[in-house]
Order: sequence, then C-alpha cells, then structure tokens
Amino acid sequence: MKKVGFIFDLDGVIVDTAKYHFLAWHKLAKELGFEFTKEQNELFKGVSRKRCLEILLDIGNVNATQEQFDTWMVEKNVDYLAYIEKMDASEILPDVPRVLKYLQKKNIPIALGSASKNAKPILEKVDLLPYFDSIVDGNNVTKAKPDPEVFLIAAKNLNVDPSSCVVFEDAVAGIQAANAAGMVSIGIGDAEILNEADYNFTDFTGISDDFLESLINKEHKG
Ligand code: BG6
Ligand code: MG
Repeated sequence: MKKVGFIFDLDGVIVDTAKYHFLAWHKLAKELGFEFTKEQNELFKGVSRKRCLEILLDIGNVNATQEQFDTWMVEKNVDYLAYIEKMDASEILPDVPRVLKYLQKKNIPIALGSASKNAKPILEKVDLLPYFDSIVDGNNVTKAKPDPEVFLIAAKNLNVDPSSCVVFEDAVAGIQAANAAGMVSIGIGDAEILNEADYNFTDFTGISDDFLESLINKEHKG
C-alpha cells in the first residue's frame, strides 16, 4: 500500500471564518461609501487578501493609490483579527475533530493548505494545531489557488507523492488546485458549485470512517 497524506483547507472547511471576513470587508466598503453583500462575499472564498481587495474596489468603483491600498489591506486584517481573537473550539465545523483524530490514530500525515496568512493563529485559537504535521498557508506560496502550488508544497512537506494525497476544499479554485496537483479532491459544501470535485459532502458529518478507510487504501490518481 502507498503512503497517503491528507490536506485540509482552513476557511470554510475547518472553521466558518467567511462570516468574519465578510464583516471586515463590509465595514471597509461602508467606509468607502458602498454596500458589500453576502452574495458578493462568495466570490472571496479561497481568494487571497490582496485579490479580495482588488475585487472589492472594483465592486465599489473605487480608485486607490498604492498607499491607500496598503492601508486598507492592513485595516481589513486588523478588523478580521479582532473577530479571530474571540474564537474558540466551539467554532470548529461539525465532525472535523473526529476525522482528524481518526487519521492521527492511523498515523496518516496531515497538512493544512490555505490561502490565509492567519492560519496558524486560527488553528491555535481552536486548539487544532497539534494535529498538523505541516502548515502551508498564504505566507508560503507565490501562486494562488487554482494554481496547485500550495498543495504540492504540502505533499512535499509530508513526504507523500501528490497522487497519493486527498484534499478537502470548500472553494471552486481549491478543488481546481487539488485536481491540477493530481490529488483526490473532496468538495465540502454545495455539490452543484463544487461539481469538479471527485467526491462531494455537505460537511464532515457525511464522511464515515469507512469512507476514510477507503481513501487510505485506494490506489490514487496518477
Ligand atoms: C482564504 C479565504 O482561505 O484565505 C479567503 O477563503 C481569504 O476569503 C484568504 O481572503 C486570505 O485570508 P487572510 O486571513 O490571509 O486574509
Ligand atoms: Mg476555504
């Protein structure tokens, strides 16, 4: 049997931080004189902070100098971090700890593959950091999802062949990145939106031990 690795996205897979990203972007938009909606926030899933601000300014038809752009990036993150500060383990999405515990018990290497630059403090806040053998986040990558870079670095850090990695993702760009890396992609969320995934689940409550076992034992892509 080949050695397998499991890679988890953070926002929307392990914790529902999209609501905090939304509140911080919404406040900035308001200050700049326009409304930012929850529907528009969907476009921000899996997208880097810098790209999110570019999209936000497009939505509001706002032109920014480099200095303003940098100031707003910092401002949004300061507001976001104020929400993160209050997070605890109660915000972990259903059954995530069960799945992490199952994999850890089987000595399966586990990595985080996230676009966020705040991944480590969030995992610390919700007490999940000890499960991860490697954290690859927005601080370690040069190319954003759907580029496979983040997941390929994670596979390398875990010392597992990319074709033997399984990725859990809630964003279309993340599923595309996993597929481009030749990994097994598992969509967490709306199956219609994540229709490029190899498997789909609404959340981790649908992921049984038997299914995990089948992934561990399966011959992977490639
Ligand atoms: C992704 C989120 O995980 O991280 C995006 O889905 C977010 O919405 C991106 O913009 C960057 O996060 P951060 O924490 O570095 O601003
Ligand atoms: Mg996500």
